[in-house]
Amino acid sequence: MDIEVHLDKVKKIIKDSKNPDEAMNSIVSYLEQNFSHYSWVGIYLVDGDNLILGPWKGPASTEHVKIPIGKGICGAAASSGKIELIPNVELDSRYLACFPSTKSEIVVPIKKDDKVLGEIDIDSDEINAFNEEDSKFLDNVAKLIVEIL
Ligand code: SME
Repeated sequence: MDIEVHLDKVKKIIKDSKNPDEAMNSIVSYLEQNFSHYSWVGIYLVDGDNLILGPWKGPASTEHVKIPIGKGICGAAASSGKIELIPNVELDSRYLACFPSTKSEIVVPIKKDDKVLGEIDIDSDEINAFNEEDSKFLDNVAKLIVEIL
């Protein structure tokens, strides 16, 4: 993966978008379409004590459109402010299942200073799909998103 090339594309998406919703929508589409191991991509935004699902792209919708902070892998990342990289979701007791096909997951907080405003959540149908490069790349995407929130 050439991180810089993809980050430039994300910057261009933000620049060309009329508003934050349009930008986030186009970013999830870009991620889902350009990375074959990103099977489902969504952005959750913090609202009080919950995470609310915003734009998403993938083969199916999820029932988890509202997740209490602290619950599931998404809620854990929102409460700690740290990236959660789960190589095998079956082995993580916190995991809230959305899709039967999901094997691994990464959740990257979107933070302004130390405050979590949201997160990027990606499910993969491949086991152990995510590595440090994905973490670094998605953390940089999150830093671009926070600028428009
Ligand atoms: N698996 C997540 C829930 C969100 S779905 O993956 C879209 C979790 O454990 O928090």
